[in-house]
Amino acid sequence: MVRAPRLLLLLPVLCVSEISLEPCEVDDDDFRCFCNFTDPQPEWSSAFQCISAVEVEIHGGGRSLEQFLKGADTDPKEYADMVKALRLRRLTVASAQVPAVLVGAFLRALGYSRLKELTLQDLEVTGAAPPPPLETTGPALSTLILRNVSWATGGAWLTELHQWLKPGLKVLRIAQAHPLAFSCAQLRTFPALTTLDLSDNPRLGEHGLTAALCPHKFPALRALVLRNAGIETPNGVCLAMAVAGVQPQHLDLSRNSLRATAPGAPGCVWPSTLNSLNLSFAGLEQVPKGLPARLSVLDLRCNRLNREPRPEELPKVSNLTLDGNPFLDPEAPNYQEDPTKSGVVPACAHSALAVGMSGTFAVLQRVGGFV
Ligand SMILES: *[C@@H]1O[C@H](CO)[C@@H](O)[C@H](O)[C@H]1NC(C)=O
Ligand SMILES: *[C@@H]1O[C@H](CO)[C@@H](O)[C@H](O)[C@H]1NC(C)=O
Ligand SMILES: *[C@@H]1O[C@H](CO)[C@@H](O)[C@H](O)[C@H]1NC(C)=O
Ligand SMILES: *[C@@H]1O[C@H](CO)[C@@H](O)[C@H](O)[C@H]1NC(C)=O
Repeated sequence: MVRAPRLLLLLPVLCVSEISLEPCEVDDDDFRCFCNFTDPQPEWSSAFQCISAVEVEIHGGGRSLEQFLKGADTDPKEYADMVKALRLRRLTVASAQVPAVLVGAFLRALGYSRLKELTLQDLEVTGAAPPPPLETTGPALSTLILRNVSWATGGAWLTELHQWLKPGLKVLRIAQAHPLAFSCAQLRTFPALTTLDLSDNPRLGEHGLTAALCPHKFPALRALVLRNAGIETPNGVCLAMAVAGVQPQHLDLSRNSLRATAPGAPGCVWPSTLNSLNLSFAGLEQVPKGLPARLSVLDLRCNRLNREPRPEELPKVSNLTLDGNPFLDPEAPNYQEDPTKSGVVPACAHSALAVGMSGTFAVLQRVGGFV
């Protein structure tokens, strides 16, 4: 009781600091703008500060954006000139529940913008999808990133989302998807897509990959990135790629717990285009059999190779990385003496422990906290 008056004296100070805490902040160059609308009664108009920013990141505090539905059927021509004038190139929308109809209206409006990269993160997309647009009216994105986005419409979501985008998407990253099986029959082809990144989907596995890689929908694919994607054998990925008819040059299987192909497993012909293979941080105790016969780059960093691979165990490769394997590091715990240490080189141990979170994910998280 004695303390109460002193606390009361503090109150005005607390209130002032709360009021002055603007949800949006823009840097001095008007380049990056970051908004976090966590207040129960958020000051949405604060977002106007972002109007001339190039990179904008908006967090919705986990709330439902249903209140914006009433604006969703405004004719976009009414604000086309304003949207055309935006400098916006990269946009992140995070942490909210969004009706699918609003997603459609939002992409239609962005069709007038020069947006190149869109990230959707920690979103729950609710309700049925809007009717498909008569023509592709959305933005001409080069990169689309989805992280932890769930869709009420299930496996049709990529088909619906893709209908809004003008052709030309080059990079598609989908992490923490639930689920990651697409309705392939309705999916339009991605004629320009060069990078498909399904990292950080630890329950994907070879089986899920076969369902996600819709056959003949990714004709231009050059890089397939599957870090921390529950992959068990390189051979299983080879088979999934053969079924899908994809012919990448670069395949990244790092940060999966890989094991040797079981004897008697079906063999597989690797795409002749494949010249770079990443098998780092994969817990390998020996080089898997059945790798492509010839590669330019093979990354075997930070595995558990206890002796130098013999030439006949390796593909013909001009750029081979074996750093961070026990046979190169006399300091590494000798796992023959102490199997619990399992022969992980100390320099690799930190990253090996972070197998649940791949490099890309960690980097994006850092980028996410740019203010
Ligand atoms: C947004 O604000 C909330 C509450 O202050 C905080 O917990 C959250 O980490 C913030 N989000 C970001 C991305 O900064
Ligand atoms: C995924 O997004 C949901 C909101 O849709 C959120 O509640 C949850 O915390 C997010 N999960 C992670 C791992 O960030
Ligand atoms: C292989 O993957 C690791 C970890 O995911 C990454 O640090 C490394 O740069 C990659 N190597 C190549 C050659 O792409
Ligand atoms: C080996 O490949 C890596 C990844 O592509 C590259 O960064 C490095 O420069 C290459 N090294 C040589 C000697 O070609």
